[in-house]
Amino acid sequence: MADKNVDNAFVEFDRVQKSYDGETLVVKDLNLTLPRGEFLTMLGPSGSGKTTCLMMLAGFETATYGDIRLGGVSINNIPPHKRGIGMVFQNYALFPHMTVAENLSFPLEVRKMGKSEREQKVKRALDMVQMGAFGGRRPAQLSGGQQQRIALARALVFEAELVLMDEPLGALDKQLREHMQFEIKRIADDLGITVVYVTHDQTEALTMSDRVAVFNDGRIQQLAPPDKLYEEPENSFVAQFIGENNTLEGVVQEINGNRATVQLDGGEVIDAKPVNVSKPGERTRVSIRPERVEYNKDRLQEGVHTLKAEVLEFIYMGDIFRTRLKVAGNDEFIIKTRNAPDQVRLQPGTQIEIGWLPEDCHALDA
Ligand SMILES: Nc1ncnc2c1ncn2[C@@H]1O[C@H](COP(=O)(O)OP(=O)(O)O)[C@@H](O)[C@H]1O
Ligand SMILES: [Mg+2]
Repeated sequence: MADKNVDNAFVEFDRVQKSYDGETLVVKDLNLTLPRGEFLTMLGPSGSGKTTCLMMLAGFETATYGDIRLGGVSINNIPPHKRGIGMVFQNYALFPHMTVAENLSFPLEVRKMGKSEREQKVKRALDMVQMGAFGGRRPAQLSGGQQQRIALARALVFEAELVLMDEPLGALDKQLREHMQFEIKRIADDLGITVVYVTHDQTEALTMSDRVAVFNDGRIQQLAPPDKLYEEPENSFVAQFIGENNTLEGVVQEINGNRATVQLDGGEVIDAKPVNVSKPGERTRVSIRPERVEYNKDRLQEGVHTLKAEVLEFIYMGDIFRTRLKVAGNDEFIIKTRNAPDQVRLQPGTQIEIGWLPEDCHALDA
């Protein structure tokens, strides 16, 4: 059982490609390895290939090329119901004419499980999602959040070690969605199951996951834990897709170890960390988070380059101040500051100077 190698590579996509029409690849050379117990999220815009990957893992689609392994065993030729995988979809897919308990019991019955064992498993799964008292109701007699919980219980009733979820919270309102994010994460941790979760919502991905695979155009752009993804994006796509970002464009002037100077298109020079650039003369898009921009000169490092900025708009947001600036020709440059007692509320029309720690400004692909 406790084979270390298999535990570290519980789910494996090995050079997987997928084409539906025999021409275009919607999944291009996908390599991904999940250890047992991990909560991994596939995050990306619509059409980037997330659902296709999940369907291949579940067995409802076949890979055009490459291999998918579960517990070290290739599953390409194993039908879906023999893979031991639980699945949760956005639209719940509960049977309306059956009670909650029957919805959960039905797939076990199909697998020829005895009545008392079924009842025991159904009770256990309903208790896990705190719906033990609702077994006799029909889906129409439940709220959206309760139906989603039943859908989750139905995936858990098999006691599958691997559960796949495709945008399971998409139909819920914001408050319920946030509550369920927390709940799903807690249940997954408690049971020690492995989860592959699909969403296009970056906040959801960041708050729930051990690691996030950012998809675009059929490829994983970056695979990393949430903090690394946010703080060290490896390319412009990831920087822009995850969180809010300011970008400026220019040409690399000089690279010195982990410092680069970049000349912006308007002539100004700034300091940055070279991420996707390797030599002078290359075009780059630099990326800096709103909360890492500093305008208080006392807090800026000695000798760093600064930029002149004009305040265009000040927005009071309660916990933070959000100020829009015009910087080097970009009039959508945002800075965010905490609403602290000593924090100035910058008024439109004010001229300021801004700067940052060079390591907070990433020189990425143009
Ligand atoms: N059954 C299908 N037949 C043909 N093309 C499909 C099918 N399912 C998805 N696609 C196409 O494959 C691409 C990836 O889709 P999908 O995996 O659903 O992306 P996502 O889940 O990231 O939104 C899209 O261009 C989509 O139109
Ligand atoms: Mg999808």
